Amino acid sequence: MQSWLPLVPESASTISWKVDALYFYLSGITLFFALLISSVLIFFVIRYRRRTPYEIPRPIAGSHKLETVWTVIPFLIAMTMFGWGARVYFDQYKPAANAVEVYVVAKQWMWKLQHATGQREINELHVPIGRKIKLIMTSEDVIHDFFVPAFRTKADVVPGRYTTLWFEATTPGTYHLFCAEYCGMNHSGMIGSVIVMEPREFDNWLSGNVGSMTPATAGQQLFQTLGCASCHGANGEGGRGPTLAGAFGKMTPLQSGESVRVDEGYIRESILNPQAKIVAGFGPIMPTFQGQVSEDQVLQLIAYIKSLRATGETPGTTAASPATTSSPTTAPSPTRNIK
Ligand code: CUA
Repeated sequence: MQSWLPLVPESASTISWKVDALYFYLSGITLFFALLISSVLIFFVIRYRRRTPYEIPRPIAGSHKLETVWTVIPFLIAMTMFGWGARVYFDQYKPAANAVEVYVVAKQWMWKLQHATGQREINELHVPIGRKIKLIMTSEDVIHDFFVPAFRTKADVVPGRYTTLWFEATTPGTYHLFCAEYCGMNHSGMIGSVIVMEPREFDNWLSGNVGSMTPATAGQQLFQTLGCASCHGANGEGGRGPTLAGAFGKMTPLQSGESVRVDEGYIRESILNPQAKIVAGFGPIMPTFQGQVSEDQVLQLIAYIKSLRATGETPGTTAASPATTSSPTTAPSPTRNIK
């Protein structure tokens, strides 16, 4: 499938037409003024050319009216670009609610992806149409950039922090995935594809690809083996560290008197640099796990902490359910009683 216009990539997401419309508007205005200015220029060159070697032109007094007109009109046009551009930008980068989360870890020179239901992919991402997909991305080494031209969306993938990107695909097909940040020798080879499927096809694909644990289950095992549970009992046992159940997404007070939202970035920082932002009422006793856990493992721990509900929020459940395909947004609930 190619677009009807040469050089314009095909359009396959809910925002791609918005980006295109803005782009064509900008191109149209540019073309209009380029033509207007060059024709006036040519006209003036001919009309006001020097006709005799000693000709002295009439002095020009200036005109406030004219100057006002050519200041106000471009200003108004520029504001339409700004207003429209800001609108599209917010549509594109405002985090989507109710999105299916996919974890992305970039490294020289590949994309490693994992679905919330456990399926892992390398340089390929399978997604259904009509569902919002949110990528939570980080890098193991240098800055990369996740770019899908057909979705008209891209975001830097930065070591040491999480960036997110969301899209909703509209047309089944296979689309290019590029790394759009020069990241070393094989940067140009850091490519892949996004495979957009009908929801039913996607569900089949998903159920045919079970095999690895869900990130939340893997995180739960790590939580045990790293000894996190002895201080951070999921239901408040341990007592030497803050309770994690139900903490995700909420504001928590810090020792410094400030507050911080418990999001992916904060959990990551607290695992790798626990002294940075200590929760009020606790001492600086947690050791760092820097160098002991990979980026994948940090993401798994985060997935596990996200899946912990406060007591009373969900009925107690057993170990992670197998990949259910109807609603991958529901993170499988691992056992809450982790002791
Ligand atoms: Cu990764 Cu360029």
